[in-house]
Amino acid sequence: MCGIVGYVGRQEAAPILLAGLHRLEYRGYDSAGIAVITRGGLRVHKAVGKIAPLEAALPKRLRGTVGIGHTRWATHGEPSDANAHPHVDCAGNVAVAHNGIIENAGVLRARLEAEGHVFRSQTDTELLAHLLEADGDDLTQAVRAALAAIEGTYGLAVVDARHPDRIVVARNGSPVVIGIGQREMFVASDAAALVRHTRQVVYLDDREVATIDADGYRTVTLDDRPTQKRPSEVSWGHEAYERGPFPHFMLKEINEQVEASARTLKGRLDAQFSTAHLGGLELSARELLAIRRVKILGCGSAFYAGLAGAHVIESLTRVPADAEPASEFRYRNPVVENEVLYVAVSQSGETADTLAAVREIGRKGGRVLGVVNVVGSTIARECEGGIYIHAGPEVSVCSTKSFTCTVLAFALLALHLGRIRDLSPARGKRLLQALERLPEQIAEVLAGAESIRGIAEKYASRTNAFFLGRASGFPVALEGAQKLKEVSYIHAEAYPASELKHGPLALVSPETPTVMVLPQDDLYEKSLSSLEEIRARRGPVIALTHTGDERLRERVDDVLLVPPTEPELNPVLMTVPLQLLAYHAAVALGRDVDRPRNLAKSVTVE
Ligand code: G6P
Repeated sequence: MCGIVGYVGRQEAAPILLAGLHRLEYRGYDSAGIAVITRGGLRVHKAVGKIAPLEAALPKRLRGTVGIGHTRWATHGEPSDANAHPHVDCAGNVAVAHNGIIENAGVLRARLEAEGHVFRSQTDTELLAHLLEADGDDLTQAVRAALAAIEGTYGLAVVDARHPDRIVVARNGSPVVIGIGQREMFVASDAAALVRHTRQVVYLDDREVATIDADGYRTVTLDDRPTQKRPSEVSWGHEAYERGPFPHFMLKEINEQVEASARTLKGRLDAQFSTAHLGGLELSARELLAIRRVKILGCGSAFYAGLAGAHVIESLTRVPADAEPASEFRYRNPVVENEVLYVAVSQSGETADTLAAVREIGRKGGRVLGVVNVVGSTIARECEGGIYIHAGPEVSVCSTKSFTCTVLAFALLALHLGRIRDLSPARGKRLLQALERLPEQIAEVLAGAESIRGIAEKYASRTNAFFLGRASGFPVALEGAQKLKEVSYIHAEAYPASELKHGPLALVSPETPTVMVLPQDDLYEKSLSSLEEIRARRGPVIALTHTGDERLRERVDDVLLVPPTEPELNPVLMTVPLQLLAYHAAVALGRDVDRPRNLAKSVTVE
């Protein structure tokens, strides 16, 4: 969603800010802007729409070495030039870029208007600029005072022409990263925007304010107590954020699943005891033995990966496990028990609802682990321990490699937990061997991409699609439908195949294709009867099954094939063809694959 960049140093700020904003485009936005402190004072340029036209319309001579920029995703007020950030005070000295929501904006705005401040936008952010208008002496102190007056969340960057050598940033619930350069410093809401310049970063904590100039930074708490920060190194260089030879990031990231899954597994398989090592869990065998239930929380694809994870855990450990959308959990006053292991799933580690669920559990004394991709992200830091999936940067809005790597991480957790309990060494060994084979099996699935493209093109003009699956095939169906609707805008619905007769069958027709998830497991025969029910109503069927299932080929219209593996790992392999199906359907329809309409990569507001 919204993104912030900032620069203070010796180079021209504008090109650096624009390049940073381009890096954040993937998060989704509807308007953008930059503010630069020039010799003649503060200059602000902002516009609704993409960054490229804003860039083209900038004056040739926008010279200054300090500035901030922003990509906005509308919350308070429609997308418009006026509502785009940065926002400026009446005198035109202060510029503010803000991610988050100010909850008491109405009261504060009324007060400021009564005092004579004239507002130019409908945003909550603008009032921060007005709050900063009067205090000219100490910008950091002024920002702290303004923040003391507001309730809500923020990642904030402020420049003030009266203090032309610095940027002040602050954080409460919305990430801010400081990038450390050589006599220059960078600011961003996401490390992706600054890795081109530096990999040495400092993550701000909530209720922290930093004052940054070309030579360094100083951090204090909101109530002015100095804090000590230790810089860390971002794991990925800027090449990892490039599209390379691929036409879309989504296709690149689907293809990266071979190496990404190998990284999730790397160093974690223990052949001697047929188990998995997970160094970040911070839970002893005795503590793991005391767990009576596992509850997984996440949003969107992270929730679906959690559903798949719950199946793996329950199957291998016989500990009851389920998943729930974090967004629902946090608001239903959930019962939190100490014998339950809570697991928060998030690619970005910044999703507001998932973070709120983590905090709710923590507040009630529960224990939460994180299954997270972005190292050092808020959810990763707030959980008591966890598993990094090491999928690498995921830029396309819809998640692909982070889904498969998350399910894989759950398989590792299940193996670890299972081997502490009743999972036999022989079963553990079979699973371990299957895990080792998985990256190359993903490569095998990817090798069939051309035939999947043909199937996608054949059905791309349909307006509806069903995805059916049973037991651990159901999360696969959910994720398959999610991918298709997100990127192609074809209406896709997932149902447990067992529920077919209880509603969806009424909609089966020759116009509506059904993707049937059909692993050769205990429920295979039962799923076949559902398939026949669809065929009897002349519904086209695309069967997702294992190579070697030649019998099926004659009974369905099209097949998507994956190599056989242990049943618990089917969801990992079976999701890959569905990602390709969605991708090629979207391409056939000319969609903006990496930036689907109305969606954002990381939803940092509720
Ligand atoms: C957004 C994205 C989804 C993603 C979800 C959770 O809705 O569009 O693709 O699955 O957020 O994101 P997270 O970063 O927490 O995994």
